[in-house]
Amino acid sequence: MKGMSVLFDEDALVLGIETSCDETSAAVVRGGKTIMSNVIASQVDLHAKYGGVVPEVASRKHVEAIIPAVDTALHQAGVSLAELAGIAVTYGPGLVGGLLVGVSAAKAIAFGGQVPLVGVNHIEGHIYANFLEHPELKAPLICLTVSGGHTDLLYIPAFGAYELLGRTRDDAAGEAFDKVARVMGLGYPGGPQIDRLARDGNPRAVELPRALSQEETFDFSFSGLKTAVLNYIHRERQSRKDGPLPEELLADLAASFQAAVVEVLSARTIEAAKEKRVRTVVMSGGVAANSLLRQEMSGAGAREGIAVYYPSLVLCTDNAAMIACAGYYRFRRGDRASWSLNAEPDLRL
Ligand code: KG4
Ligand code: ZN
Repeated sequence: MKGMSVLFDEDALVLGIETSCDETSAAVVRGGKTIMSNVIASQVDLHAKYGGVVPEVASRKHVEAIIPAVDTALHQAGVSLAELAGIAVTYGPGLVGGLLVGVSAAKAIAFGGQVPLVGVNHIEGHIYANFLEHPELKAPLICLTVSGGHTDLLYIPAFGAYELLGRTRDDAAGEAFDKVARVMGLGYPGGPQIDRLARDGNPRAVELPRALSQEETFDFSFSGLKTAVLNYIHRERQSRKDGPLPEELLADLAASFQAAVVEVLSARTIEAAKEKRVRTVVMSGGVAANSLLRQEMSGAGAREGIAVYYPSLVLCTDNAAMIACAGYYRFRRGDRASWSLNAEPDLRL
């Protein structure tokens, strides 16, 4: 493979491929920081009518979309296969069917073009979205990763090293947003809908639990909060003889729920930074797009002299540019995947 002679310098072009959930994405990134293209074919509309991602439907859609996405990413970047220094692909965690589509496509393209291949952990990709926009970021860092499948609080003492400080004991933060949105009759994905609706609501209108706040732990729990919201909705519906709930009540509920989630996320994250004596916090994952979370974390950080970073909206949710970026740094560390690279749905950091 020509990989042995390729130097992953500041001009190295890496093609990233991401298919772990419901976005088929391909991107070309130069030197781990300049996004030349970032094509994201979303299946959100397809899954919306089911209220969540249907794995079988997702895999079939990835098969259709992957080659056009890669072609478009190369075309938009004005880059040919021969010019690539490497290909980085998400191989886990995620839905096995989707992962297999991405890994197979990446292996085929790498084999055909004689380009080195590297496997990237999806969560690591989310973390590296921060480095795309702030290449000057240096370890040690505290990272809050909050997506539809994960709520992890990580200590990053050095590049590529991760210590899990805490995680959710039940639902992921994004999952809680999606489930609450569904019972409120909002669309899928629920996070952005609640974020929008909450702007018109009073965050103190409905009293909701903050789980584990009295415990000495960096873990999270959102299932009690979710149940409290469900019970509240049932009570209000009953008192209206199953009639529709008024818009103000829904806005107040959205605001109160969002405030409860954000309060625990930001309190624990800042607490972790203080305990580890770390002055920089980064956020990643779809829920890092939440406007209140961004605002609260920045505010809490500023009060403690801690710098808080988060990726721009498009880089918070699933995309291949973050995979190309994480892959670039893996290549630089000498990492290479063999042709036996496989999808690992339960991959850990
Ligand atoms: O990282 P991501 O795109 O996919 C996963 O790897 O899970 O995250 C998707 C999750 C969904 O649960 C979605 O509702 C949530 O991120 N999300 C938000 C916002 N935008 C997306 N949650 C709260 N506020 C938002 N603005
Ligand atoms: Zn994700």
